[in-house]
Amino acid sequence: MDSPCSTRGCPMIDDRLPILVFGATGRQGGSVAKALLKVRWPVRAIVLNPSEPASIALRDAGAELVHGSFKDADVIAAAMKDVHGVFSVLPANLSAEDEVRYGTSIADLAAKSRIDHFIYSSGASVGNKLTGVPRFDAKPRIEAHVRELPLTATVVRPMIFMEMLVRPGFGLDEGRLISLIRPDHSIQLTAVEDIGKIVAAMFADKARFGGVTLKIASDRVTGHELEAALTEVAGKPITYARFPDEVLAANVDLAHMASSLEDGPLAEHVDLDVMRELNPELLSFRSWLAGGGREALNAALSKGGGQ
Ligand SMILES: NC(=O)c1ccc[n+]([C@@H]2O[C@H](COP(=O)([O-])OP(=O)(O)OC[C@H]3O[C@@H](n4cnc5c(N)ncnc54)[C@H](OP(=O)(O)O)[C@@H]3O)[C@@H](O)[C@H]2O)c1
Repeated sequence: MDSPCSTRGCPMIDDRLPILVFGATGRQGGSVAKALLKVRWPVRAIVLNPSEPASIALRDAGAELVHGSFKDADVIAAAMKDVHGVFSVLPANLSAEDEVRYGTSIADLAAKSRIDHFIYSSGASVGNKLTGVPRFDAKPRIEAHVRELPLTATVVRPMIFMEMLVRPGFGLDEGRLISLIRPDHSIQLTAVEDIGKIVAAMFADKARFGGVTLKIASDRVTGHELEAALTEVAGKPITYARFPDEVLAANVDLAHMASSLEDGPLAEHVDLDVMRELNPELLSFRSWLAGGGREALNAALSKGGGQ
């Protein structure tokens, strides 16, 4: 069958109202916008800089751009007119106070606009109890607020991105990967590309996913398996080691993640069969490394980490 898509994107399905996507020039929002456009679901994206290459690429792929910030309640309220759903994600560089302020205000606006389906991307290290540390508690506080609203909402909690493991500065240029798990323990990882496909499947099934909180993962691998996959795809030996205890003890964020991976929220089991049902193209770490992750791997392997 001939594809209805051209290099300028795919024609939209006329009877579907758009999904308003935040962060569509970034990783998660970009993945969601791409997956929705691929199934010809119209996308409206709030972008800070419409003339930036990432915004232009988004427009060329078929998204409708709205110039504005997640700080502009009036812009958001206008952008929420006549949309079916909203995908909300905020950048990592906000203070905890701002993250809660904007995360809750976007949800409030969605409730006020009577959006059919709201999906908030939280974090997998979020537990059901608050820790008392503001930056760890921002996402659970937003989640709790979303659940109180008269709004059909889904919360997704993506596990650690595969992309996080192949960044410069974690030893790959010296033939080793240093990360958070013990070599014989496993970590559940998410390919950012899979987040969009899973979220698009959720928007297509509000009856099943409304009111649901779901962790998202693509694969589960031990430290030894990370070593084997990296060695194979890099074509040279890569060893795996956990950060030394003294390094973890000196870094609150790393220590929080490492303990969460041992017996906290990041150790909770994600059912990959459910993930595959939502996204039959779910990526293994090895297939991601050899495909979409290859460029990042090459940059991290090169001396100086490609910096
Ligand atoms: N699970 C994990 O391993 C992991 C890893 C990293 C992050 N996270 C979480 O993921 C979330 C961040 O998502 P991400 O990685 O997709 O973010 P990202 O790639 O950094 O993208 C951020 C997006 O927000 C946009 N943005 C920034 N300021 C804005 C503003 N004032 N108004 C409107 N848009 C604005 C950016 O636009 P521009 O392109 O114009 O700047 C970009 O599209 C955070 O909650 C973080 O905690 C999870």
